[in-house]
Amino acid sequence: MKSKAVSNELKKNIKVIICDDYATISQKAAAIIAGVVSLDPECVLGLATGSSPVGMYQELIKKYEAGELDFSKVKSYNLDEYYPIDPENDQSYHYFMDTNLFKHINIDPANVHVPSGNAEDIEAVCDEYEKMINEAGGIDIQVLGIGNNGHIGFNEPADAYDAKTHLVDLQESTIKANARFFEKEEDVPRQAISMGVGYILNARRILLVANGAGKAYAISAALEGPITPQVPASALQLHPDVTVIVDKEAASLLKEFC
Ligand code: F6R
Repeated sequence: MKSKAVSNELKKNIKVIICDDYATISQKAAAIIAGVVSLDPECVLGLATGSSPVGMYQELIKKYEAGELDFSKVKSYNLDEYYPIDPENDQSYHYFMDTNLFKHINIDPANVHVPSGNAEDIEAVCDEYEKMINEAGGIDIQVLGIGNNGHIGFNEPADAYDAKTHLVDLQESTIKANARFFEKEEDVPRQAISMGVGYILNARRILLVANGAGKAYAISAALEGPITPQVPASALQLHPDVTVIVDKEAASLLKEFC
């Protein structure tokens, strides 16, 4: 796909909130998700793993414990999962979501979904995953982190965007970045199942959280650079309703959104 210059018209759809610290990012992001859940208790959430949304999940747990939120009718669909990996494995995204959010709130286990990391027929699993989301009415709000290389989900820089949920070969930079969660780098799975960029853009709203100087390049390339599959998150410029919550460090290379 050819790169396109960013027009100001497109950028009106992106709201950037720059916070002093990670705690504030987490509170603001949780307030947005809490608003969606309160307004529509049967909403469909698109969720992400990684370190960025952990504080937001903690804030949501606090709100649930304070009796402010009811997740009993909420449905959730995660963006991605390593492949191959057993859901019971403590490095799986299934396990991550259980320990960081699901087991602390009253979401119905039947309503939570993470792509299956031990599926045999991957194509069928990917198709079925999207079908399930579509039948649930589509994602109301999709939470995203962003990789240092601009990836969203596990959509790595490439020559073309992947539209559909699919099997991805992880890039060396992502394997290295994710090695912090494993005992050793060799343990990081080399593949993952991920919603494609095209499918992510189907969500009605997008909420991206990022912190730290390591994300500065990705944030500026995604929001102010050309729309190109070499920076997968740059496709967010095409979405009508994106909120990006970052700290000053992650925002440090932004020119127009400060
Ligand atoms: C996780 C995911 C990834 C991460 C990204 C940033 O479900 O889809 O795209 O959001 O790798 O990871 P952290 O937040 O650990 O820096």
